[in-house]
Amino acid sequence: MKVTVVGAGAVGASCAEYIAIKNFASEVVLLDIKEGYAEGKAMDLMQTASLNGFDTKITGSTSDYTKTAGSDICVITSGIPRKPGMTREELIGINAGIVKSVSAGLIEHSPNTIIIVVSNPMDTMTYLVHKTTGLPKNRIIGMGGALDSARFKYRLAEALEAPISDVDGMVIGGHSDKGMVPLTAHATRNSVKVSEFLSEERLNQVKEDTKVGGATLTKLLGTSAWYAPGAAVSGLVQAIACDQKKMFPCSVLLDGEYGLNDLCIGVPVILGRNGIESIVEINLSDAEKAHLTESAAGVKKTNGLLEL
Ligand SMILES: NC(=O)c1ccc[n+]([C@@H]2O[C@H](COP(=O)([O-])OP(=O)(O)OC[C@H]3O[C@@H](n4cnc5c(N)ncnc54)[C@H](O)[C@@H]3O)[C@@H](O)[C@H]2O)c1
Repeated sequence: MKVTVVGAGAVGASCAEYIAIKNFASEVVLLDIKEGYAEGKAMDLMQTASLNGFDTKITGSTSDYTKTAGSDICVITSGIPRKPGMTREELIGINAGIVKSVSAGLIEHSPNTIIIVVSNPMDTMTYLVHKTTGLPKNRIIGMGGALDSARFKYRLAEALEAPISDVDGMVIGGHSDKGMVPLTAHATRNSVKVSEFLSEERLNQVKEDTKVGGATLTKLLGTSAWYAPGAAVSGLVQAIACDQKKMFPCSVLLDGEYGLNDLCIGVPVILGRNGIESIVEINLSDAEKAHLTESAAGVKKTNGLLEL
């Protein structure tokens, strides 16, 4: 199992580290455009191998795509992150060009790969990869919902004063401050609906805190977060590499599912060795449906800015 991670910055390196620590991949290639940067990050990470007990071989490359040849899974994290006060959508101008050229370079050397898109605005970047590569739709996956759901569970556990392992919940919709749809009505503590423990007002607060989860961290850190994003990507990579058939909300091309067409947006999917094994359609309340439809309109508006 060979995994390439493009972008050896904060998220890319964190992702490579979590993949290595989980010890399921034989090889991780980090690639970056900055001279020597990926090689340096790879060497530093390899020097944690004996400390963290993994056998995954991590190598680095400066823009040499031949080193990525034969990758089973490629993760795209290259591009600029947002600064405090910025929206993810504002990154489109620079990141669209980067994602387009990176995906072409990857596919040239790994025509059978599965691509996971992380660069923002992620739903639109995932759509761009669909439009420009012609890969089958099961092999293009956008990561956002797995991270947003982890942030939702963190906020739920905080409100419930419960351990996070007691809590389950999912966020679907667009990966943006306004577009996220935290499914509060479906969230549970040890299989009991959280609405049995929390007032509507507190649940609404959880929802709002979840939606601005990334912005809150960007304000604190001065750039966007990387530990949870890296861990979330590694979860998707592992589900595919180990054919786990696990369910995650991921940004995928919809063709009528949830009444939506011709866009990539977060919905629950089953991940396995074929990438997206299936899209799961769950019953949503009228309010959740309305929120998802509104979120889709926002994603389509951003897609409209692409020069395709
Ligand atoms: N989808 C999500 O949930 C999620 C979460 C966090 C961050 N992000 C996004 O991920 C991206 C990366 O964030 P980061 O914090 O790691 O940024 P970063 O600046 O730390 O790293 C980005 C790296 O990409 C490299 N790069 C730029 N152009 C490249 C190219 N053409 N080829 C190869 N490498 C190139 C840069 O040299 C840099 O090292 C941003 O767009 C950010 O918004 C997405």
